Amino acid sequence: MTTSKASESAASSSAGAAGRPRLVSRRNARRSRSASVRRRRRSSSIVLLLGLLATGVMWTVLAPGGNATETPDANEAVRQGRALFAQGCATCHGLNAQGSSEGPSLIGVGAAAVDFQMSTGRMPLAAPAAQADRKDPLYSETQIDQVEAYIQSLGGGPEDPDLTDADLNDADLAEGGELFLANCAQCHQAAGAGAPLTYGKFAPSLSQATADQVVEAMRTGPESMPVFGPGQINEEEAVAVAAYVRHLQDAPAPGGASIGKYGPVPEGLVAIVIGLGALLGVCLWIGARQKL
Ligand code: HEC
Ligand code: HEC
Repeated sequence: MTTSKASESAASSSAGAAGRPRLVSRRNARRSRSASVRRRRRSSSIVLLLGLLATGVMWTVLAPGGNATETPDANEAVRQGRALFAQGCATCHGLNAQGSSEGPSLIGVGAAAVDFQMSTGRMPLAAPAAQADRKDPLYSETQIDQVEAYIQSLGGGPEDPDLTDADLNDADLAEGGELFLANCAQCHQAAGAGAPLTYGKFAPSLSQATADQVVEAMRTGPESMPVFGPGQINEEEAVAVAAYVRHLQDAPAPGGASIGKYGPVPEGLVAIVIGLGALLGVCLWIGARQKL
């Protein structure tokens, strides 16, 4: 650019030397006018560019974050969840969760069922058995949330309850206790210690269940446990039952060892075996000494 300008001005000066000053000056004027137009155009395009840039920066800083960022995040969770599902669950539940001969359809079971099954380590099922056992969970909480988002996106269903300590502290413990005795104790036993059912099935002990898992179990009815829907036990009552289960877990045993909290039968058994056994031992010892 500068070199061409330099050569231009050199050419004009040589033209001036050739003796055509008016023509040259007019040509020079035209040239300088066109140069100033070019300069003006260039500066206006720079202003436009700066304006656009400033608008862009202001948009990114001031634009409302909420919805614009939330949707891609939710979609991302569903996408990740689908990938995890294809890897760990699809062999039994089908590639689109439609079910197969190895496992039921999961369309419409909801996030609550996924959280219950995965956070208690029941799923992924290791081997076919009468009943899935509670194990350490194989997946992290984030991964479980992602699979929940995927299953929830397929057909809705009961949501993850996400109870807080405050929810439990506010709950009516006495009402929870009554509901527990009326609806749950026949299988899980009055103190939640668990008990065997028929055909190798069993109602497990509730000593490890979190409050969320208690509500999820009620809403989704895993295996031979019945579903307790909101029509039967409403939202508030469900939280009260969860609070009561937590109370059973925390309750101290002032009388000494609780012996599984099974009540008078094991306590009597312990009294007979240990108490009578000790007396018998003393009798034999006395008898053995008298012979000498
Ligand atoms: C080896 C086969 C197998 C694998 C792998 C498996 N499942 Fe299952 N799943 C089953 C069977 C069988 C049942 C039904 C019996 C039961 O509930 O234990 C079931 C039940 C469930 C239920 C309860 C459905 C309801 O109606 O409440 C959920 C939720 C579930 N599975 C999620 C998963 C997820 C998520 C994975 C992957 C992390 C997974 N499963 C991996 C076999 C499997
Ligand atoms: C008919 C018997 C039956 C009744 C009634 C019943 N349950 Fe269950 N419950 C079961 C069985 C069976 C399982 C094991 C399911 C499995 O392994 O998939 C279970 C599992 C659970 C678990 C999971 C425990 C764990 O640590 O993994 C919780 C929590 C639970 N029940 C709470 C309740 C509550 C609360 C009630 C009353 C509202 C109730 N149950 C009523 C049979 C029953």
